[in-house]
Amino acid sequence: MEQPRGVVQRVQGAITLADRMRLLRQRPLTIWLTGLSGAGKSTIAFELEQQLVAQDRACYVLDGDNVRHGLGSDLGFDQQDRHENIRRVAHVAQLMNDAGLIVITALISPMHADRAMARDIVGADRFVEVYLSAPFAICARRDPKGLYAKALAGEIASFTGVSAPYEAPLDAEITIDTATLTPAESVAGIFRYLREKCLAPLTK
Ligand code: ADX
Repeated sequence: MEQPRGVVQRVQGAITLADRMRLLRQRPLTIWLTGLSGAGKSTIAFELEQQLVAQDRACYVLDGDNVRHGLGSDLGFDQQDRHENIRRVAHVAQLMNDAGLIVITALISPMHADRAMARDIVGADRFVEVYLSAPFAICARRDPKGLYAKALAGEIASFTGVSAPYEAPLDAEITIDTATLTPAESVAGIFRYLREKCLAPLTK
């Protein structure tokens, strides 16, 4: 049952974000990966997570395919459901950031407006949008899950790049050409940005 708005009040414990940052010795951040299916989001997210953990960073990947098994298991792929999927993941990322974690999300998140909403929910000062750019033809050729073949045969509705739009970001903090770079090179590119622009979270 829905809570009537205005009746629910926020409560606050004694532990502050500053306490959690001291505890984990890092500044929380949401690294929001966007791109077509097959652009390398999951591969790069988990590689980035591994490298951050190797540097004693507390982080966690929210991967679209995984999240849709639980938190978003009631959602499909029309624009309204994708909007709701992204809204939920952004709120989880915001909560995890409040807990002090570095969050990496791997969602197609195809629409400008939905990514802007995610930035708003998480907070612009914690949000790093990373566009994993690979042309449709290359993603469709890679087809790691065999979904492009099915979508092109008309077996999957509203498939991003085939029968549903992907709006390439114009304002991403980082753009990585995953058509030509290896996953390791892509992760190195993200690290370069984090070191230059978010020095604090990567300095202990
Ligand atoms: S999003 O648009 O809401 O951000 P999300 O990243 O969670 O999408 O889910 C995408 C994953 O769901 C893809 O990696 C793919 O495996 C699977 N999938 C199933 N149906 C579709 C579809 N119609 N369009 C895109 N991806 C789909």
